[in-house]
Amino acid sequence: MKGIVLAGGKGTRLYPNTIVVSKQLLPIYDKPLIYYPISVLLLAGIREILIISTPHDIDNYKELLGDGSKIGVKFEYVVQQEPRGLADAFILGENFIKNDSVCLVLGDNVFYGQAFSKLLHSAIETAEKYGANIFGLMVKDPREFGVVEFNDEGRVISIEEKPENPKSSYAVPGLYFYDNSVVEIAKNVKPSERGEIEITAVNNEYLQQGKLMVTLMGRGMAWLDTGSPKGMYKASGFVKTVQEMQGFYISCIEEIAWRKGFISSAQLRKIGEDLKITEYGQYLLSLTEDRK
Ligand code: DAU
Repeated sequence: MKGIVLAGGKGTRLYPNTIVVSKQLLPIYDKPLIYYPISVLLLAGIREILIISTPHDIDNYKELLGDGSKIGVKFEYVVQQEPRGLADAFILGENFIKNDSVCLVLGDNVFYGQAFSKLLHSAIETAEKYGANIFGLMVKDPREFGVVEFNDEGRVISIEEKPENPKSSYAVPGLYFYDNSVVEIAKNVKPSERGEIEITAVNNEYLQQGKLMVTLMGRGMAWLDTGSPKGMYKASGFVKTVQEMQGFYISCIEEIAWRKGFISSAQLRKIGEDLKITEYGQYLLSLTEDRK
């Protein structure tokens, strides 16, 4: 399975922070926001990753992440000229996806919770077997999201994008697993009222074909809001609190790459050495000293 991180958009809700810097490059506590969705792909064992961003920002991502060899993965890059909608990721990514299945993660989605890797691996299996696996997660106010509607037997009957009157409290987070037919499905999506080719339209097509599986994430899963300055501030606080309490870092891509065996201890030490004036670098060094 291949992975795509969609990291474009105008970030207008975060102006003036994002007038010159892409939202997904802003920090969530001690690392850029995009590290969090990248870590999701790494945890899923995905090592071929396409980063999509704007003409203005793509070079910054290249500078930050390079070709991926430092962490034992392969990063490729594609420009999205205009924010045409989330389904555009599969059209822009067609040559990258080739005949493979694909996971899309939005560049501003942060997840943290126990047994997450297991959930991701079973989502890959489900998508490759049935067609598509997305998630449902209970939120207080689902009106800002894609929302799953269930019938009395608990079967999914529709997904609505930003409904005024949501039919459930289950939002669809920005993490989607599909088989290869997603490319053709995306090409046939018509723009919505807000002029975007919506991921929700892709999901509804899979649903109609009887190929959509919705896995509910339990209340132990934290899905952190980064849609406003307040959300980013709170997310930073959450990461800081957990890291200081446990001593383990959240979404440290170098650590995950090392634990997954993508890089050796010597490679991890080298990255740690380069960053050693920071706590981040010292953390990387400490990992190889006493295997936690
Ligand atoms: O976060 C989960 C939600 O993401 C889902 O529940 C919704 O179904 C889905 O439509 C999406 O809603 P958002 O309102 O969060 O989408 P937004 O337009 O803000 O785009 C999400 C991120 O993707 C954002 O950081 C910008 C980036 N983006 C967006 C579009 C439309 C792109 O890179 N390119 C695009 O064309």
